[in-house]
Amino acid sequence: MSVAYNQRSCYCGQVGVEHVGQELILTGWVQKRRDHGGMVFIDLRDRTGLVQIKFNPESDPKAHTAAGRLRSEFCIAIRGEVAPRPDDMINPRMQTGKVEVNAREIEILSESETPVFEIEDATETNEETRLKYRYLDLRRPVMQNALTRRHRIAKALRDYFDTNGFVEIETPFLTKSTPEGARDYLVPSRVQQGHFYALPQSPQLFKQLLMMSGFDRYVQIVRCFRDEDLRADRQPEFTQLDMEMSFVQTDDVLQMVEGALAHVMKTVLDVEIPTPFPRMSYDEAMNRFGIDRPDTRYGLEINDVGGPCGKLGFRVFDEPLKAGGTVRCIVVPGGAEMTRKETDTLTDDLKGIGAGGLPLVKVAADGDGLKFETGIAKFFTPEVTAELCQQVDASAGDLILFAADTFENACKYLSWLRETLAKRRNLIPAGKWNFLWVVDFPMFQYSEDDGRWYAMHHPFTAPRDEHVDLLKSGNAAACRAKAYDVVLNGIELGGGSIRIHRADVQEAVFKLLDLSEEEQNLKFKFLLEALRYGPPPHGGIALGLDRMVMLLTGMTSLREVFSFPKTQRAVCPLTEAPGPVADAQLEELYLRLRQ
Ligand code: AMO
Repeated sequence: MSVAYNQRSCYCGQVGVEHVGQELILTGWVQKRRDHGGMVFIDLRDRTGLVQIKFNPESDPKAHTAAGRLRSEFCIAIRGEVAPRPDDMINPRMQTGKVEVNAREIEILSESETPVFEIEDATETNEETRLKYRYLDLRRPVMQNALTRRHRIAKALRDYFDTNGFVEIETPFLTKSTPEGARDYLVPSRVQQGHFYALPQSPQLFKQLLMMSGFDRYVQIVRCFRDEDLRADRQPEFTQLDMEMSFVQTDDVLQMVEGALAHVMKTVLDVEIPTPFPRMSYDEAMNRFGIDRPDTRYGLEINDVGGPCGKLGFRVFDEPLKAGGTVRCIVVPGGAEMTRKETDTLTDDLKGIGAGGLPLVKVAADGDGLKFETGIAKFFTPEVTAELCQQVDASAGDLILFAADTFENACKYLSWLRETLAKRRNLIPAGKWNFLWVVDFPMFQYSEDDGRWYAMHHPFTAPRDEHVDLLKSGNAAACRAKAYDVVLNGIELGGGSIRIHRADVQEAVFKLLDLSEEEQNLKFKFLLEALRYGPPPHGGIALGLDRMVMLLTGMTSLREVFSFPKTQRAVCPLTEAPGPVADAQLEELYLRLRQ
């Protein structure tokens, strides 16, 4: 039998009561087969959903016999008539649950081996197996929805920028290194012996050059490549919505991005988000939340308690304070109920990220006042206890967790505790979309490890106008940048800046970064030259598209929103990339492997 599968009437998930009495051609995969009182039932699945197909031995014996061969994941086409289900057979949990299709004819387009795992949303299958059989994994409705939503988000962004006069321009993948703080993926040149292309970490310099060419509004949805340690929110190749504008100041870029994100939220989720987004300085973010991408959906803010804690003569607090460090704490409301085992686990986990320990106290009622119990309680005097509780607004039943260390370490430990406890204690309200701008970043960051300054964003970021002189005099620590990050629910969605458009300022930055003239010439000669030909003031941003999709689909790992992602070890279990290459190929590229 053959069914005209190229003349599909509609998708499975679209079959409804309006089709009753009509004959349809449907295609898809067998989700499940059930034999019931002589009848054969199957759920037929495509990317829109399921529909029940019924094979009746009396009315359609040939189709019924053919259906006897069906197994899960066979690919089939059927021709059949839509009928209402009897009242007691209606399935309210199924989109098409009011109808079924009486098959008249079936064609098995291809058979399937028993799939390695069931094609269902809920899965216990380990990730390695899911990725090895990604084509099956992507049949799961949850994955189909994620990738479809990804498409909608990208389309909404494209539409928005198109409406606002942006031109999408592609930039090269075989290029030279663009410093964004990660290692480059290198591609050896066959034609130029011993020379290598670098895959772009971002189109940063090309988009700046496009501004110099007069394309005053550029946008691109573009792959970027970074060889860095992978985490749940990082992939070695990922997608940016990259944009750049000429003749703008910070506010203009921020407004344009707010419009884009509000448009995506409205079109894709039908959620109105208020604009403008709140803005917070980098210093405030670090002081209140210990991190430059604060999740403002919940409290647990950090308090600087060096004042009261410095009065105790307690070594754990005194030593860091004397060394110029800090004593900070967070108050966990109701946290005194946590068991010893729970706080010990927290301490062990914190040690895992470098902390020496976790000083803590539980707050309890003491007549009209408060007292501390357990942990380091015995080191507190009643006066300091009262002062501290008043400062941090602690009440009986709370838990206070301290970090006494350098400012950087205290921020790291307390922001980790904040995030971990918010999750473990369910303190994060559902359905909130807290967009936030973090602004006023330092220009440079000092690395103790190699004793030099690094650009906090990238070296093309402009300093504040009033800090140009600081920059030229080499005062890296005091320089603030015209940089901004957009954060959503504690995840850095994007980052950008107003750029340097003066060669002398760009050279001053390179100098501060210890780039010799020779290195400047080697890496950035073209940029310094281009800056001599009437560059317009310009600025822009790149939004992490994958992260946006992850947040807007409620996923917790980027791998769930990529079609074919890499594992934590940067491999693709499906294609087994990266793989070895033939000696002849290496030779052609003038490469030899070290044994
Ligand atoms: P930045 O390096 O901040 O800026 O990157 C911008 C955004 O890209 C996303 N992102 C990633 N997503 C997934 N995996 C990764 N490995 C990864 N790395 C970054 C993040 C991040 O906020 N050229 C500048 C932008 C500019 O200045 O206009 C840049 O690339 O969401």
